[in-house]
Amino acid sequence: MTELTGKTIVLGVSGGIAAYKAAELTRLLIKAGARVHVVMTENGARFVTPTTFQALSGNPVWTEAWDERRANNMSHIDLTRAADALLIAPATANILAKLANGLADDLLSTLTLARDCPLLVAPAMNRQMWSNPATQRNVAQLKTDGVRIIGPDAGEQACGEVGEGRMSEPADIVEALISFLQLKPLAGKTVLMTAGPTYEPIDPVRGITNISSGKMGYALARALVHAGAQVQLVSGPVALAAPQGVERIGVQSAREMQQAVMLRVAQADIFIGVAAVADYRVANVAADKIKKTGDTLTLELTRNPDILAEVASLPAAPFCVGFAAESQNLDAYASGKLTAKRLKLVVGNLVQDGMGGDTNQVVLYDAEGAHPLPRASKTDVAAGIVAHLARMLG
Ligand code: C5P
Repeated sequence: MTELTGKTIVLGVSGGIAAYKAAELTRLLIKAGARVHVVMTENGARFVTPTTFQALSGNPVWTEAWDERRANNMSHIDLTRAADALLIAPATANILAKLANGLADDLLSTLTLARDCPLLVAPAMNRQMWSNPATQRNVAQLKTDGVRIIGPDAGEQACGEVGEGRMSEPADIVEALISFLQLKPLAGKTVLMTAGPTYEPIDPVRGITNISSGKMGYALARALVHAGAQVQLVSGPVALAAPQGVERIGVQSAREMQQAVMLRVAQADIFIGVAAVADYRVANVAADKIKKTGDTLTLELTRNPDILAEVASLPAAPFCVGFAAESQNLDAYASGKLTAKRLKLVVGNLVQDGMGGDTNQVVLYDAEGAHPLPRASKTDVAAGIVAHLARMLG
């Protein structure tokens, strides 16, 4: 992942046991391409030593307002000037209270007050501390002040109690930060999309499906959320977690997918069919497991509805985008689909270039012609598709 390449993040670590997770968070931020400068409170440094963060970030760690390593002795000003965001994780009840009231009695609180970049905080504390009206008042105040609150999660706590107050997992915090730093060209747009394969039953234990992994559709759903869209993802059976912020509706067969789509399409501004929908289903699904009898077995198949074509031909059709996975003649088949299904955009790829894998090479076809994108990770391809979509809608 390189989605934070070129970004500078100041990571504030305050004094809670979740400080140990901030070490993993630092590693993930670096892995995502960010430059990381860690600032610790005195109590934060009691849980994990600054040496750990220095080794992980590759940068000096800052703990005191009176640090003479800066020639001007103004680390509280300098540190955020080159930063794209200040992220405090874990953020204790105490630091939240200080920030809500504008206190500046150590380096972290002082530089937060003096910052000129956005602030994100990931609270971490005992469930009673979190639900205490004083903390909730402080959090509400911070939200009003434009601070982005990440989490907290609910679950087991270090003190042995169970409830809300656990710091969000480092991977989820990084995901929230990546999303936060993106431009939002699709803000206010509702996207309905399909992804994954469908599963057409033969009998209660067998079915017909295909090798679609859902990775391209899920990567696209994630990129759409990052671009500010509201995303509903009607998904066939896949082994993927729903991206943060995406509403997933799980289905099995093409007809279930069609029903789930038609129920929601009236609210959608954009419809994107990424699913590898089975063209045919078994005409008569057996109620019981089929026993082996003769040497051959014939299954009669019947056509499935074409969900994308149906949506595109609605009187008030949303902006429709289709995918074309072909094994040959990509240009002709993909641009043919553009007109045949009355689509605004078709994302074409050769199946041998993308299906099931982690990278993809696609060509975008619209009324203006063909626009090839370079071979890249499905994450980057998804970002490229969203950028093109945003240009078309903008
Ligand atoms: O016609 P073809 O199956 O190649 O078209 C692929 C596009 O149509 C994809 O966007 C796919 O999600 C959509 N599709 C659909 N319902 C079908 C078949 C394809 O929505 N039954």
